[in-house]
Amino acid sequence: MVDPQHFRDVMGSYPTGVCVITSLGNDGERFGLAVGSFTSISLDPPLVGFLPDKRSRSWEKIAPTGRFCVNVLGSDQLEACRRFASRHDDKFEGIAHGTTPGGLPLLDDVLAWIECDIERVTEIGDHLLVVGAVRAMQRRDEGAPLLFYRGGYHRLAGLDEETV
Ligand SMILES: Cc1cc2nc3c(=O)[nH]c(=O)nc-3n(C[C@H](O)[C@H](O)[C@H](O)COP(=O)(O)O)c2cc1C
Repeated sequence: MVDPQHFRDVMGSYPTGVCVITSLGNDGERFGLAVGSFTSISLDPPLVGFLPDKRSRSWEKIAPTGRFCVNVLGSDQLEACRRFASRHDDKFEGIAHGTTPGGLPLLDDVLAWIECDIERVTEIGDHLLVVGAVRAMQRRDEGAPLLFYRGGYHRLAGLDEETV
């Protein structure tokens, strides 16, 4: 039996970026939640994924829209991160944003965005694996990512030998 707190502590040693998954309801309502579980899955076809908690209220509303946009946060977007990790009634209030070419909510100044159709949703333990088929994507050349590691937020610190 693995103790849940021990699981969290150990898994927290694996650093992640932070994304906000957004979508738009039929009545124009905007949805969004912060996730660290975003990953690239496949190049051909282009697929990405993330893992929302089964209890996520935002995911419950995003799922029927059939689409989502991944907003990759920069190191100066801690406020947006905290907001979208909360249960605030209107998470977009005071957060500057526009729309993607496909009409989904797009936060200002993100490092990259990826617009997807929901390809597949699989139940795994207490989470869901959501796979998205990429329809459009763009990156900004300048800026640095917001990182999450061992329960805290960090900036990138380059090593002297940066090349792979
Ligand atoms: C850095 C960070 C990473 C997170 N990663 C995830 C994640 O991968 N999956 C998830 O379901 N929640 C994740 N969360 C928590 C959700 O953002 C949080 O539970 C949020 O309140 C969910 O809102 P909702 O109930 O409106 O969906 C993360 C939070 C933070 C701060």
